[in-house]
Amino acid sequence: MQNKNLDVRKAYLEFFASKGHEVIASAPLVPNDATLLFTNAGMVPFKSIFTGEVPRPTPPIRTSCQTCIRAGGKHNDLDNVGYTARHHTFFEMLGNFSFGEYFKTDAIAYAWEFVTEILKLPKDRLYVTVHENDDEAFKIWEKHIAKERIYRFGDKDNFWAMGDTGPCGPCSEIFYDQGAENFTSDEDYMGGDGDRFLEIWNLVFMQYERSADGTMSPLPKPSIDTGMGLERVSAIMQGKFSNYDSDLFMPYIDAVAKLCGKAYEYESGASYRVISDHIRSVTFLLAQGTTFDKEGRGYVLRRILRRAVRHGYLLGIKEPFMHKLVDVVVAQMGSHYTYLNDKKETIKEQIRLEEERFFATISSGLELFNAELANTKEIFSGEVAFKLYDTYGFPLDLTADMLRDKNLRVDEARFDELMAEQKARAKAAWKGSGDKSAKGDFKELLEEYGENEFIGYESLESKSKILALLDSEYKRTQSLKANERGWVMLDKTPFYAESGGQCGDSGEIVGVAHVFDTQKFHGLNLSFIETDKELKVGDVVSVKVSNERSEIARHHSATHLLHAALRKILGSHVTQAGSSVEATKLRFDFSHPKAVSAEELDKIESFVNNAIANGAAAKTEIMSIDDAKNSGAIALFGEKYDENVRVLSFGDVSKELCGGTHVKNINEIGSFFIVKESGVSAGVRRIEAICSASALNFAKNLRLELDEIKTELKSVEPLTAIAKLKDEIRSLKERVKNAASSQNLDFTSVGATKICVANTKNGDIKTMIDGFKNQHESAAIMLIQVDEGGKISLAAGVKNASIKAGEWVKMVAQILGGNGGGKDDFATAGGKNVAEIENALKAALEFAKEKLA
Ligand code: ALA
Repeated sequence: MQNKNLDVRKAYLEFFASKGHEVIASAPLVPNDATLLFTNAGMVPFKSIFTGEVPRPTPPIRTSCQTCIRAGGKHNDLDNVGYTARHHTFFEMLGNFSFGEYFKTDAIAYAWEFVTEILKLPKDRLYVTVHENDDEAFKIWEKHIAKERIYRFGDKDNFWAMGDTGPCGPCSEIFYDQGAENFTSDEDYMGGDGDRFLEIWNLVFMQYERSADGTMSPLPKPSIDTGMGLERVSAIMQGKFSNYDSDLFMPYIDAVAKLCGKAYEYESGASYRVISDHIRSVTFLLAQGTTFDKEGRGYVLRRILRRAVRHGYLLGIKEPFMHKLVDVVVAQMGSHYTYLNDKKETIKEQIRLEEERFFATISSGLELFNAELANTKEIFSGEVAFKLYDTYGFPLDLTADMLRDKNLRVDEARFDELMAEQKARAKAAWKGSGDKSAKGDFKELLEEYGENEFIGYESLESKSKILALLDSEYKRTQSLKANERGWVMLDKTPFYAESGGQCGDSGEIVGVAHVFDTQKFHGLNLSFIETDKELKVGDVVSVKVSNERSEIARHHSATHLLHAALRKILGSHVTQAGSSVEATKLRFDFSHPKAVSAEELDKIESFVNNAIANGAAAKTEIMSIDDAKNSGAIALFGEKYDENVRVLSFGDVSKELCGGTHVKNINEIGSFFIVKESGVSAGVRRIEAICSASALNFAKNLRLELDEIKTELKSVEPLTAIAKLKDEIRSLKERVKNAASSQNLDFTSVGATKICVANTKNGDIKTMIDGFKNQHESAAIMLIQVDEGGKISLAAGVKNASIKAGEWVKMVAQILGGNGGGKDDFATAGGKNVAEIENALKAALEFAKEKLA
């Protein structure tokens, strides 16, 4: 019987190590491959070895436990997760790989040995499948298992491909029978859709590479790629019929049950399972630096989280809760994936903020959804789905998920149409002139010369030999004619190839060609050039890096100081999320949950400038990656570091793993200015800054602008001048407002004279009277106003009319129990009998009419 407590992950890696395989750590979830959204299988990190783009490693056989995500792209399981026993967005795939070493015979023998002798699964429960045309695999299997237990299936089941393009081949799968006594559906036969026969291991016989036009060309050598899902094997080992019942998932389900206060039952428990699955993807993606975003991978992350939140909502959890489950992930997985531990708090914060964003709209979104649902017969409106997406942040698959149990579907065509209309935004352009996924003659070059030497840490000039030339399609050529563009490989090169955020060097091949850029392709350092004269392989040339390099170095060193300052002032949760270093500016993205305040920015800027003023020599050490990390040097997640790494420190201010080029002493940086702080995506901030010559130019421009401002304001004290201007504007606005309100005053006419008598609540009565007088050739106006204390003010104005304003107010003031007077054209008075106002107004009007009659 199988060993229930076996640590399957460990046993697998040890088994294949004992067969001579090198054990490789899991590569990042975001692959170094533009054709894939996520690493979706164990073979992804080895794709270019399979296709022969890079030479085979030694030993040419490997094993790994690879974290994978299947949520988007060719292998997308998102919609099924929670509703089946074995779909996941995030899972771990155990695999063994042979790059042209062993093939079907050994792959099958290893798999059989592992399954029957290490896992000890009973043989009478095992079945296998092969591709319908693969007689060879059938024969090999016959040596291990009765032929009645070998099934043949077509391409749909037994042909595996990484994506629309890339390595692929026929495959053979091992199935485990969970027992007729437990499964009764019509689909519970080998090849059916039921759960009884469970595929546990896929052995892919990699033989072809599929190109974008669909043609299949043979790989240089037949190879092996296998994949065994850790989750399903663990479940089988524990005698569970669903992955979610295994001890890899029950802790999450228990935690969810606690949060919602309702016990879990398998039948009705899809929401518990969705949450349990999704928290793992979300935690791992965030830990590896993907952040919530409006598009691309960050949007998949957002969709996964929002789907989970909505399922929590269904369970009655009406406030952010997903962040509370991060602890469970760390407890479950942190001992193998140790980076989770350091990131725990930041991840919680990122999730909490994203949950808050969604909770702000979820209930109004659900209202809209339910209203539309009531009108829906078969197809849910694409317009409403789009509105849910656009206004309420409901991803399309979330809306589809909500319709699932009602057997309704969304009008996706209409949704897509609306989406396309809205998408003015250009597709993310790949930066740099070199397309890193380009196909070309790189492998030949690597085999012939190995990686060429970079000498640009010490020298900016050299005499170098041209080892190879590539045309702009990356194909080898013996020469480039005058005025042609292409790539040059020098035996030793001072040109830095873009990496670690630092841009590639430009410069010249003296007298022969201009160098625009330098990029790395599979470790080859190649410069992109345009020739003035013909250039041939074998030529020995003088090359010179552009002077810009010293400015690039200053901005790169300043980036390290900024990173140190951020960690010092904002906290050690700050980790680099992206960086770009050029000759005139730098940009640094980092994880931090909220905007950096002006005060913090000031402290950060001062920290960097103080460090520069104090100076510190750069010290570079080459050490093992472990020593480097132990020494406290900052390393980046997912960055592929060699065995030995460069550690760069500036005194005790900063210490980082870095392959870039830097100043000799940080006092060369001059001065440092932060020019902008902004948000990139949820939980990620960006600082843009400048130093050295750019900082000086920046300051000069500020001075020029200030001079212009002074000239414009005709003042050497612009702030005082501005304060005065603002005052003037304020009083002008007030007058305009009053003038406007006087336009609304009602009046009666006697002859040519306009008479207005009114009790006004707002506005300055004097200005209003002036306004009225300005509007009319002949006018008599009296306005009364009562303040909050019950005190009455009144004023009268007269223009070209036979009324004396002084007399007029005096008469009215008496009615109001007050007194006053003034000139013939303007007079004011006070009063206190608020109850008499009506009478006073009547008397005032009569008085005026009489005088004018
Ligand atoms: N790459 C194969 C799979 O993912 C093993 O199934």
